[in-house]
Amino acid sequence: MKRTEVVEVLNHGKIGDKINVKGWVKAFRSNRFIQINDGSTINNLQAVIDLDNPVFSEDLIKKITVASAISITGTLVESQGKGQKIEINVESVEVLGEANPDEVSKTIMQPKRHSLEFLREQAHLRFRTNLFGAVFRIRHAVSFAIHKFFNDKGYYHIATPIITGSDAEGAGEMFRVTNFDLNNIPKTEDGKIDWSEDFFGKETNLTVSGQLEAELAAMALGKVYTFGPTFRAENSNTSRHLAEFWMVEPEVAFNNLNDNMDLAEEFLTYVCKYVMDNCKDDLQFLHDREVKEDTQKPTAERHELNLIDRLKFVVDNDFERITYTKAIEILKNSKPYKKKKFKYPVEWGEDLASEHERFLVEKEFKKPVIITDYPASFKAFYMRQNDDGKTVAAMDILFPGIGEIIGGSQREERLDVLKQKIKAFNIDEEELWWYLDTRKFGTAPHAGFGLGFERMVMFTTGMSNIRDVIPFPRIPKKAEF
Ligand code: 4AD
Ligand code: MG
Repeated sequence: MKRTEVVEVLNHGKIGDKINVKGWVKAFRSNRFIQINDGSTINNLQAVIDLDNPVFSEDLIKKITVASAISITGTLVESQGKGQKIEINVESVEVLGEANPDEVSKTIMQPKRHSLEFLREQAHLRFRTNLFGAVFRIRHAVSFAIHKFFNDKGYYHIATPIITGSDAEGAGEMFRVTNFDLNNIPKTEDGKIDWSEDFFGKETNLTVSGQLEAELAAMALGKVYTFGPTFRAENSNTSRHLAEFWMVEPEVAFNNLNDNMDLAEEFLTYVCKYVMDNCKDDLQFLHDREVKEDTQKPTAERHELNLIDRLKFVVDNDFERITYTKAIEILKNSKPYKKKKFKYPVEWGEDLASEHERFLVEKEFKKPVIITDYPASFKAFYMRQNDDGKTVAAMDILFPGIGEIIGGSQREERLDVLKQKIKAFNIDEEELWWYLDTRKFGTAPHAGFGLGFERMVMFTTGMSNIRDVIPFPRIPKKAEF
């Protein structure tokens, strides 16, 4: 008999249907009631065993344990119990894969509350929990919504290289790619490493961003986006940083900074709405979990809005748009500044620290904030210089509870200005010959941004540590699995 998925049974199963279901045992109560789940939904299907039926030998029943894989055939009936409308009256069970209860009890599959830290240590098994089932189904939905958003608007998805020969972006420390025998690295006559002997004949790294290549494509295809893994070797052991994360980078010809902000706001709103409309059960589960956890916290640490309300809030409200200069002014007039509560200085020309960003988003505006026109000094070379000569057409989008979720800008399209910037940043112009070519042949205003995909998944799932929204996090001193 062909297998029916649990989600299909629960949503469309009819009383009297004879079906086969395969999945893992989540719970087995009174030797009669099996909760079975196959990953298609957060909800389990209840299967009921008739103990008087001789096919269910004691031996067979013993093998139906939490985490074992089973195949069940039976008839759908109206449920007698609470919590479900429909259940399956089991006619036969086949245990496909046993799971030793003693060993299961040492893992996170043991059905009880485990800390997120403990779950991370068993990341290979945490998919089995309700929590991570919900998180990774939503992660998929966010990814799909992103592709759908851009596709529906006529954007082209561009695959930009993961191994890169340029280190010009300046977005962070890079991981080197080499196939040298590290105990026997070829040297030149003057004792330096001879990169010409390496696989690519030059120094190569894992990319920190696909932007520069996306710009090349945008100068012909008009509207493009990249969606790929990016790598940063910074030693930042925070709840918002990964060494390997995914970034979504649209790049649009003829857009200015305002168009860029409009696009980003529409995009983030769309993704939130998509998750609300398409991940109802998983979202409700995560929402309820958060509400429950909040009740155990001191009032000051509780969320002002819980998950679903936070998403709704983003969908229903416009983002606040302010310049960096205005942000500094607001911070200087703020209570924590006056009471010397900020650790880092608030001074025009200094980058905003996350404590400042949090104040603006969570206390001052209580909604997403777009900060624009930052001082050129701490932003990348490619950002378009403003007429004031001091600031650039940059934008950062800050989200409550997350901080920076998007960084972007209008790009410097004027060849002479760009060349000056490259010089001022001490970048070798030769290395960027291909990038500069776009400014020689039909240069045009254009703009784009990068969304930290995992930070978006944090926002849509309410998970507070970025390590819990990617299956196998890569962080300093950890690359398990
Ligand atoms: O602000 P960033 O560094 O911007 C760029 O790389 C530009 N080239 C993007 C563009 O204009 N096309 O990074 C973009 C976003 C950040 O806002 C943040 O959400 C995320 O990427 N991000 C990280 N996410 C997880 N772990 C890290 N270590 C991250 N670093 C940045
Ligand atoms: Mg940034």
